[in-house]
Amino acid sequence: MFGRITADRLTKVLGKPLIVEAAWAAHFGFHPALPPHPLTVGADGMVTSAHKMLPAYSQGALILARTERLDVSRLEAAFEATNTTSPAGSILASIDAARALLETSGHDLLDDLVNTVTTAREILATVPGLRVLEPPLVDPTRLVVVLPGTGADGIGIEQDLIDQGMPIEMADRDYLAPIVTMADSRDDVLALTDAIVRSVERHRARPRPVSPAAQWTLEPESVMSPREAYFAPHHRRPAQSAIGRISAELVAPYPPGIPVLAPGERITADALASLLDARAAGVRIAYASDPSLATLLVVE
Ligand SMILES: Cc1ncc(COP(=O)(O)O)c(C=O)c1O
Repeated sequence: MFGRITADRLTKVLGKPLIVEAAWAAHFGFHPALPPHPLTVGADGMVTSAHKMLPAYSQGALILARTERLDVSRLEAAFEATNTTSPAGSILASIDAARALLETSGHDLLDDLVNTVTTAREILATVPGLRVLEPPLVDPTRLVVVLPGTGADGIGIEQDLIDQGMPIEMADRDYLAPIVTMADSRDDVLALTDAIVRSVERHRARPRPVSPAAQWTLEPESVMSPREAYFAPHHRRPAQSAIGRISAELVAPYPPGIPVLAPGERITADALASLLDARAAGVRIAYASDPSLATLLVVE
């Protein structure tokens, strides 16, 4: 809905605050090769993970806000109303340490990271059939590997990497997306790159076209609000006989974690087929009450 409204128009003309979902962008603005920091280019607030691109403990996250359009006391009250009353000191300390690291050494560490990832991209680009997404399509510190031209299956490659103690952030049949951050050494990133190259060769098969996963292309039909569906009387049905009924649950192949079904949406044959395909390809089916997908929860 806001696709064509610029940050400037939203904030200056309409007077609406702009909040940026910046889970993966905690390092933006700390190196000239990276996109600017959201708060310096018009955002009023941003939420960012400190445990993704910064080396804080899991669950560490930050809300950053400017106060021209946001009422800081309301923000504080909302935060307190939803935050745990028993925050873990170790997580808070790790967030502060990560913030301090970014402030004091971020530029140099990010410089090394951008150089290392550029080298890794160059190595991967020499593998026949392999594509690597390039900036500005992706953040210069991200490695996103596109596999269909090699015929290799990303789920098999992910397993090879896990077996070598190198779990990655995301893999599906067609893509690999390891997280590399300023806390990784050049040697570690290049060892990962080498392991990917060897695994691609091990799984090489007939090249296939790139086909976007169903969750990017399916048009959901919303029949009732997620809240209504979640609280409505519901029951479990064999999946095939749930086609045409309204889902009472969230079902998302993970990665990428985008729901194919949400509460209140019609369960279509296409949606079910895409979920069964994902499951057969070895993708984890997240949030479903029956991850085998033999059954689905439907509204009565
Ligand atoms: C785009 C995006 N937003 C938000 C989150 C959740 O972040 P957190 O784990 O800090 O709650 C994730 C987690 O993977 C994500 O990918």
